[in-house]
Amino acid sequence: MPDAHILGIESSCDETGAAVVRSGQQILSNVVASQIATHQPYGGVVPELASREHLRAIVPVVRRALSEAGQTYESVDAIAVTQGPGLAGALLVGISFAKALAFALEKPLIAVNHLEGHIHAVLLEQRQSGNAELQFPALALVVSGGHTHLYLAQVRENLWTYRNIGHTRDDAAGEAFDKVAKLLGLGYPGGPIIDRLAPHGDPQAVKFQIAQIKHPDRRDHKQSGHERVSADEGPHFDFSYSGIKTAVLRYVETQNLKPAIEARRQALAGVDKPTLEDIRGLCDRQILNLVASFQRSMVNDLAMKTLAAAREYDVRTLFVSGGVAANRELRATFEREAGMQGLPVLFPSRALSTDNAAMIAAAAFPKFLRGEFVAMDFCAEAGMALR
Ligand code: KG4
Ligand code: ZN
Repeated sequence: MPDAHILGIESSCDETGAAVVRSGQQILSNVVASQIATHQPYGGVVPELASREHLRAIVPVVRRALSEAGQTYESVDAIAVTQGPGLAGALLVGISFAKALAFALEKPLIAVNHLEGHIHAVLLEQRQSGNAELQFPALALVVSGGHTHLYLAQVRENLWTYRNIGHTRDDAAGEAFDKVAKLLGLGYPGGPIIDRLAPHGDPQAVKFQIAQIKHPDRRDHKQSGHERVSADEGPHFDFSYSGIKTAVLRYVETQNLKPAIEARRQALAGVDKPTLEDIRGLCDRQILNLVASFQRSMVNDLAMKTLAAAREYDVRTLFVSGGVAANRELRATFEREAGMQGLPVLFPSRALSTDNAAMIAAAAFPKFLRGEFVAMDFCAEAGMALR
C-alpha cells in the first residue's frame, strides 16, 4: 500500500481545522481553532460570524498543521476537505481554500462527508494503536450538534458504504444539551458544561420520559410494521429529543426556577471565560439534580436505542463518535451495556470526538487509494447525506 500524506481541512461549523495524516493511520498534526469565544455571547453559533472567523483562521491554521507535521505545501500528496453537511458559508471557506491549494500545487482534491469523517476518527485511532482488524458489520452512532444518526458501515476494496438505519426526527442530541444548558443559564456550548456538572447532582431526582418512536416517518414512502421501514431497508431506530427540552422548560416553570436562572445568566455574563467552578458555584442542588437527570435520560435513551439496533442487525462492532461521544457518562454507559451484550464498542479519544480535520484526512485516504478525486467545480452541500 503506498504511503500518502493527506492535508485535511475542516470548516463545517464553528471550528477551523487542518491536519496532516499519514496513510489514514498516523496523525502528524491536528490543529483546531475554536470559535467558542466568538459565539458565546449569543448562546449559539451565528453562521455569518462563523464564516468570518474561518476566513481569519484558515491560513494560519493550515500553515501550523503543515509545519507541526514537518511537511510543506509541496510535500503533501493530496488535499482533503469537508464538502458537507454543515453551514453553507462556513463550508465554502474551507472548500475555496482547498480548491485554490489543489489548483496551484497541482495536487489531487478529495471531498469528504463530515459524518464519514466522524466515523473515520474511530478507525484512524484504532489503526494508530495497532488494532487494524475490525469485525464487520459495524454499526456507527454519529452523535453531534447536528446529527444523531445510526449507520451500518461496510468496506470492500477501500470503498466504504453506509446505510442509515436511524436518525433524529427533530433535535439532535448535542442540540438538546446545548438548548437545555442555554435554558438553564449555564452557558455555551452546553454539552461539555452539563457533562462536568452532572456528577454533582442526583440523576434519579427528576423523571423524564423520552419519546419512543412507534410510527413510521412520513418522509419515507413505503411503510410497515412497528418501526420505520423504507423501500430497500429493514427496521429503523429513530430518536427524538425536542420533547425532553420542553419537559425541562416545564419543570423550570412549575418549580419557579426562572429568577435564579436569570441571576446566574447575569452573573456569568460578567465573568470573562467562566470556569466550571464559576458555573458550579452559581448552581444550587435543584439545578444540579435537574442537569444530572437530564443527562442520565439522554444517555440511557441513546444507549438503549443504539444497542437495540445492534442486536437487530447482529453487528460485530459498535462505533460511537461525534461531539456528544466526548460525554463521560455516555462512554461509561455504552461500555457497560455493550459489554453485557459482548459487543466491542469503540470511541475516538475525547479530543477527536469533536470536530477536527484529522478525521477528514483519514476518511480521504481510502478515496485517495481509489483515485476518487473531485473536479474544481464541486460545491458545498449543506444538507449532504451519507451513503
Ligand atoms: O461533532 P461536533 O464537534 O460538531 C458537530 O458536528 O455538530 O459536536 C458538537 C456538539 C455540541 O452540541 C456540543 O455541546 C456537544 O457536541 N458536546 C458534548 C460534549 N462535548 C461536546 N455533549 C455532551 N458531552 C460532552 N462532553
Ligand atoms: Zn461534527
